Amino acid sequence: MRRLAVFASGNGTNFENIVTACERGELDAEVVLMVCDKPGARVVERAAAHGVATFVFTPKQYASKADYEREIVARLDAAGAELVCLAGYMRIVGEELLGAYGGRIINIHPSLLPAFRGAHAIEQALEYGVKVFGVTIHYVDAELDGGHIIAQRAFPYEGNDIEELERMIHATEYPLYIETIGKLIDFS
Ligand code: GAR
Repeated sequence: MRRLAVFASGNGTNFENIVTACERGELDAEVVLMVCDKPGARVVERAAAHGVATFVFTPKQYASKADYEREIVARLDAAGAELVCLAGYMRIVGEELLGAYGGRIINIHPSLLPAFRGAHAIEQALEYGVKVFGVTIHYVDAELDGGHIIAQRAFPYEGNDIEELERMIHATEYPLYIETIGKLIDFS
């Protein structure tokens, strides 16, 4: 059984989807740690409901990004994490974390990268008028939403309803993240 860590900053539906896939045996893995940079985030409740250990921190309480990332690395090491899955973790990963876990950190992003990087990808794609949307899973490097692409899935959408589009994005993300994690842990 592989040991996963999941990082999230907000609602945490992708986190919960990964945990549920592990619980159901759809992934031969266990989520050993959930890392969150927003103490009030809904994902913290979701982790508690599933009995997943957490490291929840407030970045401003640390002198620097390197300081809080050193703490994260210590927690990952202690939990024996083998693969780190970012799932709505809205921070750029820095040198400490990449130095320790580089090549073992993946991210899911709600656009067809390299188009529409950053925190508002869905809104930007809609404003741009794109007709084919999608999601990307990629290795994380020092560049925002950069790194080698592992998987992508696209779908057509010609409407203008952001909530409907967000639902479609999420419905695309959930199975793709599970399939991709499954392939990565099978090969490693
Ligand atoms: C997901 O759609 C994910 O792709 C996105 O945040 C959402 C989190 O939803 N990530 C990014 O935008 C990263 N740049 P969730 O908290 O319900 O899983």
